[in-house]
Amino acid sequence: MNDPIETLRLEFNEELKRLSTLKELEPHRQRFLGRKGPIQHLLSSLRDLSAEERPLFGKRVNDLKEFAESACDELHARFLLGEEAARLKEEGIDVTLPGRPRLFGRKHPVSCMMEELLDIFMEMGFSVQYGSEIETDYYNFEALNFGPDHPARDMHDTFYLRPDILLRTHTSPTQVRVMEHQRPPIRVVAPGRCFRNEDVTARSHVQFHQIEGFYIDRGVSFADLLQTIQDFLEKLFGAEIKLRFRPSYFPFVEPGLEVDVSCLICHGVGCAVCKHSGWLEVLGAGMIHPEVLRNGGIDPEVYSGYAWGMGVERPVMLRHGIQDIRLFTDNDPRFLEQFLEL
Ligand code: DAH
Repeated sequence: MNDPIETLRLEFNEELKRLSTLKELEPHRQRFLGRKGPIQHLLSSLRDLSAEERPLFGKRVNDLKEFAESACDELHARFLLGEEAARLKEEGIDVTLPGRPRLFGRKHPVSCMMEELLDIFMEMGFSVQYGSEIETDYYNFEALNFGPDHPARDMHDTFYLRPDILLRTHTSPTQVRVMEHQRPPIRVVAPGRCFRNEDVTARSHVQFHQIEGFYIDRGVSFADLLQTIQDFLEKLFGAEIKLRFRPSYFPFVEPGLEVDVSCLICHGVGCAVCKHSGWLEVLGAGMIHPEVLRNGGIDPEVYSGYAWGMGVERPVMLRHGIQDIRLFTDNDPRFLEQFLEL
């Protein structure tokens, strides 16, 4: 057997059988089919043959070349597929694994309550004004009749940023700020965040929300105040609640009062939430002190007004049976996702 073409084909096939990776295949292809390889060499030797021998020999060498090329291509495709499959398997992509669910944000329950309150007041003819969370001592205290050494300041544990600049302890400073820029009749509610330097417990926090309301015009009476409060508390908690008005003291109103509603949990029978009194305190109110009107540039001989201030977290806690005010600021999605937007 000294047919060089047949010998080469056998040798090529023999080596091909031993290959198992793409990496091995390319040198093999190069060795047989490259410019300096044996097939090229046979093709070059054609010119030494006689004219009769040349066509047949040439055809056979070309056949071998085509055969070798397609054998290499086929093996290339097979190895590629195999290696790809092995890689995927090794990387272990489990396409049946369920995706990670995305959490969608919802309105915070305190925001929902605030919006509900604002809706009620807007329906009653009040417009909304926003004060500033950073206030001066003047608007937070002085203008509201808390002199520098007024004992009522003790109720407001204050975060001072500078001796005369502080984080507002209530929304009442908005009263005088609005009076300075508006003439009566003024009918405004002012919602917002307030701050007090208190121990954080289940019942008190350093930050909380209030909504302030006030009405100033000629002839505004105490009866108007009582009726307005009754109307909105019934809208908020339901017509079946009972109200209790108690005299109280705030420097910026005269007379001042506090308003309780019959306990929403036990309906007045007495439970842990109302400390067995049957009542829950919900807001402070009163007729705006003449001095405060004067500080806002409004003549108390001509005009009178009422005001109230109410916490926002408390009604949310009562409505949903939330026992710990800290939950509102913890940002735990397990807590927050329970509240569907109203
Ligand atoms: N600002 C008071 C507080 O935070 C609440 C308050 C009481 C507001 C009586 C008023 C009012 O407008 O008339 O404790």
